[in-house]
Amino acid sequence: QNEKDSQFIVSNWAKDHYHKLLLESEEGQSIGLSYLRQRGLNQSTIQTFELGYSLDMWDDLLKAAQKEGFQAKYLEKTGLTIIREDEQGKDSGRRYDRFRGRVMFPIHNVSGRVIGFGARTLKANDKTAKYLNSPESDIYHKSDVLYGLFQARQAIRSEEVCYLVEGYLDVLSLYQGGIKNVVASSGTSLTESQIRLIARYSENVTVLYDGDAAGIRASLRGIDMLLEGGLNVRVVLFPDGDDPDSYIRKVGDQRFKEHLEKASQDFISFKTSVVAKEAAGDPVKKAEAIRDVLQSIAKVPDPIKRQVFLQQTSGAFGIDEQVLITEYNKLVKTAT
Ligand code: CTP
Ligand code: MN
Ligand code: MN
Ligand code: MN
Ligand code: MN
Repeated sequence: QNEKDSQFIVSNWAKDHYHKLLLESEEGQSIGLSYLRQRGLNQSTIQTFELGYSLDMWDDLLKAAQKEGFQAKYLEKTGLTIIREDEQGKDSGRRYDRFRGRVMFPIHNVSGRVIGFGARTLKANDKTAKYLNSPESDIYHKSDVLYGLFQARQAIRSEEVCYLVEGYLDVLSLYQGGIKNVVASSGTSLTESQIRLIARYSENVTVLYDGDAAGIRASLRGIDMLLEGGLNVRVVLFPDGDDPDSYIRKVGDQRFKEHLEKASQDFISFKTSVVAKEAAGDPVKKAEAIRDVLQSIAKVPDPIKRQVFLQQTSGAFGIDEQVLITEYNKLVKTAT
């Protein structure tokens, strides 16, 4: 039995431990479970995603793990516990739990094994981060993971599109609302390996990022990377201040699905509308905006698609197609 296996086993055990605490302990029920209920999640979603709760104590997991006979080093390596250092910064030999008083979101790999955790605080004015994540380990590489992919993978294949959201709760709410082909990049900017992962299941991605300035910026960055990965990209915007989770809770499953249909834009219309808004009435800025869209088109590996996108851009900005293509060719030449 090797190093990694031991880390898988302790992670899986911790997932069961947190899950049981959520459903069966007094504190888990009155704090964790009632929070998840209040956020609209039902029993079936909680089961499917194996959600849990960590007690608000320094050593609950540590003690339970010792009782089970787990070696301290595996708790350490998976980041479930943290070494307490003495004044000289040396290992004091004492440990404490990383996750305390939080709702636990186990992160699964594509074969369904637990490799790490996301954990949300329930305190209204917590001084620490709203979300904590497991640190990198031999089994958990944050940049290689999409939250929800294990649960979503069949639906992504059958629906032939993958919805990409920012957060854990966005995945859970959409899944519960019947939109099962949804995964989260978990707040980080998208990585190449996450994109390759999506591409294994579908070549179509629809980006559903938060309706704030940060979400729009992240969408723009994500789009270029997805295009480079050879994927077809669409975008759905939400009202400023909403994310997919808050929006589906506000309008209900049916109207949410209608919104996905009606508000879905291809990446050119999306980029055009974003940059055109910034460039309103200013020809210099408009030219910049057009070049910006051309830059994205240059990322598309398929030459036929590129041709179609160029036509579309010419229409969107009211620029003669030949002029646009000349400009495009210049831009590609200087880029390489
Ligand atoms: N995230 C994180 N660490 C943080 C903040 C966010 O890892 N300190 C990740 C989490 O995966 C989170 C996602 O980014 O689900 C989206 O972040 P954000 O939009 O800020 O979350 P909220 O929608 O504000 O979270 P919630 O709905 O739970 O209040
Ligand atoms: Mn936020
Ligand atoms: Mn956000
Ligand atoms: Mn949210
Ligand atoms: Mn959000």
